[in-house]
Amino acid sequence: MFKHLFSPIRIGSMELRNRIVLPPMTTSCGAMDGTVTERLRDYYEARARGGVGLIITEAAGVHPQRKYGLFPLSLDSDAQIPSWSELAKAVHAHGAKVAAQIFDPGPESIAMLSGRQPEAPSAVVGRGLFREVPRELTTGEIEAVVDEFAEAIRRAKEAGLDAVEIHAAHGYALVGSFLSPFFNKRTDSYGGSLEGRLKFLLDILQAARDRVGRDFPIIVRLAGDERRTGGRTLQESQIIARILVEAGVDALEVSGGTVPTVMWAVVAPCGTPLALNAPFAEAIKQVVDVPVICVGRINTPGIAEFVLETGKADLVSMGRALHADPDLPNKAAAGRLEDIAPCVACNTGCIGTVVQGGQATCIVNPAAGKEREMAIVPAARPKRVLVAGGGPAGLEAARVAALRGHQVTLCEKEGKLGGQVNLASVPPFMQELAQLIKYLAIQVRKAGVKVELGKEVTPELVDEIKPDVVIVASGARPTVPQDIPGIDKDSVVTAHEVLAGHKASMARKVVIVGGGMVGCETADFLALPSDNFAAAPTDVTLLEMRDDLALDCVAETRFLLLGRLTEKRVRVVLQAEVKEILDDGVVFTREGREESIRGAEYVILALGAKPVDNLSTEIRDKVPEVHVIGDAGQARKILDATAEAARVARMI
Ligand SMILES: Cc1cc2nc3c(=O)[nH]c(=O)nc-3n(C[C@H](O)[C@H](O)[C@H](O)COP(=O)(O)O)c2cc1C
Repeated sequence: MFKHLFSPIRIGSMELRNRIVLPPMTTSCGAMDGTVTERLRDYYEARARGGVGLIITEAAGVHPQRKYGLFPLSLDSDAQIPSWSELAKAVHAHGAKVAAQIFDPGPESIAMLSGRQPEAPSAVVGRGLFREVPRELTTGEIEAVVDEFAEAIRRAKEAGLDAVEIHAAHGYALVGSFLSPFFNKRTDSYGGSLEGRLKFLLDILQAARDRVGRDFPIIVRLAGDERRTGGRTLQESQIIARILVEAGVDALEVSGGTVPTVMWAVVAPCGTPLALNAPFAEAIKQVVDVPVICVGRINTPGIAEFVLETGKADLVSMGRALHADPDLPNKAAAGRLEDIAPCVACNTGCIGTVVQGGQATCIVNPAAGKEREMAIVPAARPKRVLVAGGGPAGLEAARVAALRGHQVTLCEKEGKLGGQVNLASVPPFMQELAQLIKYLAIQVRKAGVKVELGKEVTPELVDEIKPDVVIVASGARPTVPQDIPGIDKDSVVTAHEVLAGHKASMARKVVIVGGGMVGCETADFLALPSDNFAAAPTDVTLLEMRDDLALDCVAETRFLLLGRLTEKRVRVVLQAEVKEILDDGVVFTREGREESIRGAEYVILALGAKPVDNLSTEIRDKVPEVHVIGDAGQARKILDATAEAARVARMI
């Protein structure tokens, strides 16, 4: 099983035990001074222990005054070397190798954090958080930055790291901008032709080689195709790859997309093609004789093996998959596939949290980035634990509590585990979410949880079981605002009912009230693709109070979702406040004017959800410990539900 995945390989002088790579993923768990914290070391150590072949750290900067986050890892000073040495030791202790990703944000630097104006090949409007206009670097300054890169690479070697990766991908940051004809408008030797745009990177390679010698492995990360009009094509990437290998690069990591405009291809969300960059990696592999690493949506050992077996790449990066389960390699090698916590590419805990300034976490692995504080340790005193509700919160709480040695019973009032995730995974592109429930359902049973379906936890049941702890995870129900005239009509249904199979999903014309993520996904579910000739298109209108749609959705998913709604010709009315529901439509106001939509068969409500929890107050006096978690406490995201479950189950 997985013969290719677990065969050793060399990158230059570096011998790897297998073909599995943890690619760079910024967790924001570093220290403000750029050093590797204990927390970050734990994160990487867990993945080394879990069997990965090579770890490439999150992006590490080369200059303290070019920052694009509060906690950017860095190799800009010798003072940082000891923390990197500790990291190397921790990773090596488990038989894995470690490389630092060397990166400079350049135009994406934030002046407020860096203390100076961002710098770039040309003064083309910045694409960073604040769209700052960068300053064009002089030739002398470019030479100084080349030196900074080379010094950072020297420090990586001195720290005992096994390799470095230079980040040249995604048409952004400093190296990516020099490579890009969009952002590099220079007329000197660092611009103009392809050779000119490549000179900065080639100078870095030369300067680095002068410091670290020929034997220290240097990898370059390159987007095979930037996937945007006017961006770099695969053919040009093949040419660049050849030149880089001639210049002494030991391996290429091939990705795709552009930051931030084609972000959906950089950190591709659920529903996008698996191994989406494999054709690019394959094309690059055809023109170079060094190992090629493929990255992007390689999220199971089976897909990874397929990529290797079919010759598309020599190694596979599995980013979010290893974030979700650090033990993926060892579990795959042991054939324990059902025990692998699956990355469902929801992007909420990882990239979605990091871009908002938080530290990376994960809906399937709330311990990601908190490996030490969230280690599962045996309970001091095993207790009888009753969990009410078998959605993601209840399942995760039951799983962890049982692993800690508690005697756990989980009751779900429906005939099926999963709660609202069963509905959330219905719309197009969202099916992968169901993997979360499949995994948790298997794990709770393996951990010894007694699962009772079709059984609601009541005060009487509590009297019978006499638990020491009750965890209320009874979820939420859709909000139906009673103050809207006509809300009780038979033609009014909730998005939840529609996703559960209500006949409203067969209607020819509907109005959806509420254009948050649920409303938009329901529209996506109802509207037929515009190339579907078999049936007349469904006429779907989305009414939203705010001035934009799906604001509660992560950026990559939102971008694709809104694109589909446009393509399916879903009508969108923003800043619309519903005043009345009619037998065949709605009356609403927009910019002070009253308007209406008529001829609709159903009005579908997607107006958020309200917690379902009477139980906790009813049993307070009967049970020593009662905890309310997930939507039962406050309706939020799956990320909050599993995080709360994970925390409470470790407390009891
Ligand atoms: C939270 C997060 C942070 C990332 N940070 C970096 C980074 O620092 N440097 C980089 O080159 N790519 C970064 N990426 C992109 C990943 O390296 C990888 O290319 C991407 O996640 C797709 O691979 P996957 O489908 O295996 O997760 C990041 C991705 C995530 C999810």
